[in-house]
Amino acid sequence: MSKSAKMVIDKDYKISRIDKRIYGSFIEHLGRAVYGGIYDPSNKTADELGFRQDVLELVKELEVPIIKYPGGNFVSNFFWEDSVGPLSERPSRLELAWRSLESNEIGLNEFSTWSKKVNSDIMMIVNLGTRGTSSACNLLEYCNHEGGSKYSDLRIKHGVKTPHKIKTWGLGNEMDGTWQIGHKTPDEYGRLAAETARAMRQIDPDIELVSCGSSFAAMPTFPEWEALTLDHTYDLVDFVSLHQYYGNRNNDTENFLAMTEEMEHFIKTVTSTCDYIKAKKRSKRTMNLSFDEWNVWFHSNQDSDNTMKNRPWQKGPALLEDIYNFEDALMVGLMLITLLKHSDRVKIACLAQLVNVIAPIMTEPEGRAWKQTIYYPYLHASKYGRGIALQPMLSSPKHDTADFTDVKDIEAIAVYDDEKETVTIFAVNRNLKDNINLNCGIRSFEGYELLEHIVLECDDLKKSNTAKQETVVPKKVQRTVIEEGEVKTVLAKASWNVIRLGKSNFIRLS
Ligand code: AHR
Repeated sequence: MSKSAKMVIDKDYKISRIDKRIYGSFIEHLGRAVYGGIYDPSNKTADELGFRQDVLELVKELEVPIIKYPGGNFVSNFFWEDSVGPLSERPSRLELAWRSLESNEIGLNEFSTWSKKVNSDIMMIVNLGTRGTSSACNLLEYCNHEGGSKYSDLRIKHGVKTPHKIKTWGLGNEMDGTWQIGHKTPDEYGRLAAETARAMRQIDPDIELVSCGSSFAAMPTFPEWEALTLDHTYDLVDFVSLHQYYGNRNNDTENFLAMTEEMEHFIKTVTSTCDYIKAKKRSKRTMNLSFDEWNVWFHSNQDSDNTMKNRPWQKGPALLEDIYNFEDALMVGLMLITLLKHSDRVKIACLAQLVNVIAPIMTEPEGRAWKQTIYYPYLHASKYGRGIALQPMLSSPKHDTADFTDVKDIEAIAVYDDEKETVTIFAVNRNLKDNINLNCGIRSFEGYELLEHIVLECDDLKKSNTAKQETVVPKKVQRTVIEEGEVKTVLAKASWNVIRLGKSNFIRLS
């Protein structure tokens, strides 16, 4: 007998209006992300500033609202002053996090120019590893102050008259991790972050600040790290960060695709910890979450460990160049759905990263820029997932995996765009053997018609795209109808689905 799932969505059952920054991403001075990725003056598509136009076009297509920069682990020994001013005067530095040479050819002002070209804002991270309050304040003054002070005038002298007006600032990166340069105890970090936040707000009261949370859910200090650090920073910051990467390390796809259960638990625990501190402090503020590093990352782990140790110091070495396959794309789809299910608290999220380094976009040094499998769920969610996240009342067949029980075969969310009057259902069938019928009640969306059903499916879970051949690509299918107030469809085994509805008499295929 064929398996079935049921779902109901209703305009009035809202999770939250989605902050578009949930579709953010990340560029770190790491590997070939900057040098050889977004910037390569020798490439035939490079513009007059050396930016690859082919990469730029692919990033623009993704409509990335915000990009975390310049790290990552890189930031914890970053000297921002080296990255501004005349190129001939910028020093090369030993970059310790990834054991590379940083030429500082691309710095804050160049990155800001690039981010404008791709219509993204910057989420700037400050170095609280080897530096502290004063360098963070100087950087903020350089970026956001109009003029008439030491660092704002320096920016003007560097040819940037209008301040960058960067709104979102991260107070360090993964400071709980022993691998982090300048790693801190929770009290050391909490105190430093609080003092830095206080001083930065004196310079620009309009900024938003992110306090460092745990590097991943399995950190031994989680969630004590959040409780102890927020005790210092709670009333001074707007977000706490979360990072999480998953990988199919044991080649057990069912278990891999169930790992979003853990991600969900991670989000709920951070939320409760924030609310506990809120109660403890009798605070009126509600802390939001910035899930500012998430993705699949494991394919390249072994390689990069080896090359990191054995290679000579060099600029832009190929590092963390995971080649993603079809099942990774399903996992990215599941992670996106998980973020959207918690969009009442997760307001920022950054797919880590964007180009060449654990990225949806890859570049060949002399050749083309191409799309990895994970490009597509990210593209679809960013493009069609704007508006209001609706509660997915979902009942689905379930299965157990090595580490998880009662895992829903179907994971789904719906987003209602009240401006464009469209509804999009994002659904993954993570049952690897069975197609599943889905009936989704949409009675409050009377008069809505099917616009399209886009699917990413593939017979081979391990299939990847390459620079020469992109075979894992989405297609439109004709297996969906709207009848008697329900969307009726079949979700193919192991598939990512985007079912788009729109109010009648409007053509919305753009
Ligand atoms: O994204 C790669 C690395 O992962 C980042 O530099 C760090 O923050 C995290 O551990």
